[in-house]
Amino acid sequence: MKKIGVALLGLGTVGFGTYKILTDNKAEIEKKHGVSIEVKHILEKNPKRAEETGVNPRLISTDINNVINDPEISIVAEFFGGIEPARSYLIACLKAGKSIVTANKELFSKHWAEFNEVAEESGAGIYFEASCMGGVPIVRTLTAGLQGDNILSIAGIFNGTTNYILTNMADNGEEYGAVLKRAQDLGYAEANPSADVDGFDSMYKLSILASLAFNKKVPLNKIYREGISKISKEDIERGKDFGYTLKLIAMAKNKGKIDARVHPMFVENSHPLASVKSSFNAVVIEGDNVGDVMLYGRGAGDLPTGSAVVSDIVYCALQKEYKRFGFKKESDKDYATDFVSKYYIRMTVDDKSGVLAKIAGVFGKYEVSINSMHQKPLSGGVSSIVFLIHETSELNINKAIAEIKSLNVLKEVDALIRIF
Ligand code: HSE
Repeated sequence: MKKIGVALLGLGTVGFGTYKILTDNKAEIEKKHGVSIEVKHILEKNPKRAEETGVNPRLISTDINNVINDPEISIVAEFFGGIEPARSYLIACLKAGKSIVTANKELFSKHWAEFNEVAEESGAGIYFEASCMGGVPIVRTLTAGLQGDNILSIAGIFNGTTNYILTNMADNGEEYGAVLKRAQDLGYAEANPSADVDGFDSMYKLSILASLAFNKKVPLNKIYREGISKISKEDIERGKDFGYTLKLIAMAKNKGKIDARVHPMFVENSHPLASVKSSFNAVVIEGDNVGDVMLYGRGAGDLPTGSAVVSDIVYCALQKEYKRFGFKKESDKDYATDFVSKYYIRMTVDDKSGVLAKIAGVFGKYEVSINSMHQKPLSGGVSSIVFLIHETSELNINKAIAEIKSLNVLKEVDALIRIF
């Protein structure tokens, strides 16, 4: 039977999850896939981890050279997170002809081209299923499951922490800060939770997945990004009145030009994405022949993410020739500069005659068409108004909002939320 030696860089949550799956399922993997995978070395700085995890301390060191110089190790799986030293270590492994498996979305979305260049020279493979949506096999679906289609769009919930926060705010009336703290305690959140709540994590994943989907590089600087930190319970509740659930959506479309974005969106309750709760992730891929395909599952955690890493290790171990995905630099004209959506806009205004006419006048000037409106009187002579806007250009919405902000009847534009 083919024997493959593996090194794990890191024995944290996902590193140990991977170790556990490789150990517990060793016999099953051998029986099913005809390959024997053995963990030969683990890099870990924390001396307590061997005792905490029960891993043989003789497998553990802090010196990457023990990995690079071991000819029995052919696959290196990385769990450090962040950029350095993960980047340098993986480059050194690729140079040494070892294939890499990474769960590190930030590193991979930023350094994919560099890894490819080195791997092209050494002939090593690069696998990154676990970098996007944890245990959901989205990378393999895009690269090896939809060859008959041009992918027109990809959209979903790519971040478990923010989905956990939004679900608990909506369903249990909890406060943002308290739920975020619990998401951290549960191990869903990134080391710096700003990566989750400000949309960076979703943006990294979108860059990787949209590039694969469209076979064109979708760089980070072409992705519009807004997080959930300014979302209020008031908007979640008002959205419910219109039949909407609030989600942090990552979406990219390639309909002539590529438009890629991460921001909160109201999703109609009848849409399958609206029922994706807690830390679960989901993605809808639209192909020109197959139509919509949806995947759903756990996007974070030790065993779900470990499952994706092990899938990559087994997949890599069985390849005769590695396929790498590299993209030419696109030009600016390949990316859209405007976006069309329906909108929810909440504003606080003076509660007196003529106010609505003034606001409607500005919307009309920029061809922004109001679908419906809901007014709630507040104390102090002001009202809170929610406008639902028909599909319109974001450039026009922005111009209208800028002008409305200059009206003396306006107190505040409290929220502008796109509708999926
Ligand atoms: N912080 C990430 C999330 C972990 O909440 O989805 C998985 O990438």
